[in-house]
Amino acid sequence: MRFLALVIVLFLQNASSQTQDVSDYDLGSKGTIKIGDACKRDWQCIENAFCRAQQTCLCETNYAPSTDRSKCHAIVGTNCRSNETCATMTNAECVQGACTCQRDFIPDINNSSNCITRPTKPGDSCQRSDECADTMFRALCVNGICKCLGDFHFVNDTGRCVESRGIYQPCRHNHDCFDPQKPESLYCNNNECAYTAKYAGNVTIPGANSSPSTAGLIGLLIFTSKSLYIL
Ligand SMILES: *[C@@H]1O[C@H](CO)[C@@H](O)[C@H](O)[C@H]1NC(C)=O
Ligand SMILES: *[C@@H]1O[C@H](CO)[C@@H](O)[C@H](O)[C@H]1NC(C)=O
Ligand SMILES: *[C@@H]1O[C@H](CO)[C@@H](O)[C@H](O)[C@H]1NC(C)=O
Ligand SMILES: *[C@@H]1O[C@H](CO)[C@@H](O)[C@H](O)[C@H]1NC(C)=O
Ligand SMILES: *[C@@H]1O[C@H](CO)[C@@H](O)[C@H](O)[C@H]1NC(C)=O
Repeated sequence: MRFLALVIVLFLQNASSQTQDVSDYDLGSKGTIKIGDACKRDWQCIENAFCRAQQTCLCETNYAPSTDRSKCHAIVGTNCRSNETCATMTNAECVQGACTCQRDFIPDINNSSNCITRPTKPGDSCQRSDECADTMFRALCVNGICKCLGDFHFVNDTGRCVESRGIYQPCRHNHDCFDPQKPESLYCNNNECAYTAKYAGNVTIPGANSSPSTAGLIGLLIFTSKSLYIL
């Protein structure tokens, strides 16, 4: 009889400690202690946080604190089973078990809970050169803005920076031929860059880097000689 009583007492003690465990962990009771504040046990800290060295609450690996330290946000790379886990991020989704920036978005290097618009053309803001190069190929990030490399220009139809070919240089496409001073002046004619009809009237000496005044002078000479010829 005494033995039975002891067993019952032990059972009850055991059961009560299990109840304690269940309410702390399994039933999802989360603490309210914010990140950086003092704690003694993990369960006292907010969701997705733990009590580091039984001293202060810290976000778990792959979570980052919000500015007011009251939440631990998922970041790029956080394990997930559904989009819900990544919902504290901006413009993110769950792909193959990890929170990832949505298509056309990239991680903000200052805050990996935040996905920002991917740059797609020169002038778009960027953080690093590879972000520009990923979409535009031969491009760099200069002072936070995407730019094509020096001898390259952006072609809207392809979304890429293409090597610029000058007059009489070999080409495959009209968009290869490009003069930065006169963006619409060239086209690709039989694999060679040529002046478009619209600009041809302005060009007198092939390939000459003529200044407007020289061109004007030559034009005047031609005009004069033609007039004289007619006369
Ligand atoms: C997450 O949401 C996207 C749409 O934003 C959807 O295409 C995708 O299937 C969702 N993924 C999961 C794991 O629910
Ligand atoms: C990241 O922080 C730096 C320095 O504080 C700032 O110049 C930059 O604009 C920030 N980047 C973004 C995408 O907010
Ligand atoms: C980081 O970005 C997330 C999502 O946009 C935002 O909720 C959070 O407050 C940001 N964290 C910081 C420290 O700015
Ligand atoms: C550039 O291309 C996009 C589609 O790729 C189009 O919507 C836009 O109108 C084009 N812009 C110009 C100036 O041609
Ligand atoms: C010559 O070039 C000027 C600008 O440089 C342009 O306004 C003009 O239309 C051109 N003339 C012809 C005939 O193409």
